[in-house]
Amino acid sequence: MNITNLGTKAHVSFFVATELYRHMLRHPQGRLGLATGGTMVDMYANLVDLLSKNQLDVSGIHTFNLDEYVGLSADHPESYYTYMHDVLFNQYPKFTESFLHIPNGEASDVAQEAKRYERVLNEKGPVDIQILGIGQNGHIGFNEPGTPFDSETHCVNLTESTIEANSRYFDNKSNVPRQAISMGLQSIMKAKRIILVAVGTSKKEAMTRLMTGEITTDLPASILHQHPNVEVFVDDEAMPY
Ligand code: GLP
Repeated sequence: MNITNLGTKAHVSFFVATELYRHMLRHPQGRLGLATGGTMVDMYANLVDLLSKNQLDVSGIHTFNLDEYVGLSADHPESYYTYMHDVLFNQYPKFTESFLHIPNGEASDVAQEAKRYERVLNEKGPVDIQILGIGQNGHIGFNEPGTPFDSETHCVNLTESTIEANSRYFDNKSNVPRQAISMGLQSIMKAKRIILVAVGTSKKEAMTRLMTGEITTDLPASILHQHPNVEVFVDDEAMPY
């Protein structure tokens, strides 16, 4: 796994957007694995810009989101469904809605929904490029420390530190959902290529732990050392010591 410091968040955002754009350009039926979170907002803005300027036909592209909060309706302002439509799908409304896959956080049977999502991933996948952010505790998707490496899409109990970190997006901490449906670590590893993005000082510690190379379930992202095609892009602030 190699790491490249691109200096600024602006450079990272532009570079990753360009990678996604160029993949869609070459592969009109491509499969993209998408991530949410603050890190990705500027990346999607750059991607929308590239798509719009070039009027790319994306109607054959399938997208797969990593995760969704349990209990938030699709139209809740903090659901990842809303996030994705706000930053990408509504900004460039040429995607085919039925090709945009996001776990349904409102499903009455969450375990069943997780199974369905994994099935869709297996039937329509594999993902060509999976974009990942990283949590301060090393989570990817919502796979918290301790998640088995062989996990598939499942229902997750969020840790206190993740609830705390994500509370900045909600009116107050008590409104942050306690659970999420997330692709598992094994589901993520099925992608042909993985790009992990980390920017800002709050990610420096996780990146330092990741780049020591130790593979442990205490740091879920460390499973990526076992994948043959992973690249990491950071800014100055997230660059490990
Ligand atoms: C959330 C998401 C992750 C994301 C992480 C970092 O918990 N489930 O996919 O990578 O947070 O988010 P941010 O970019 O806002 O720091």
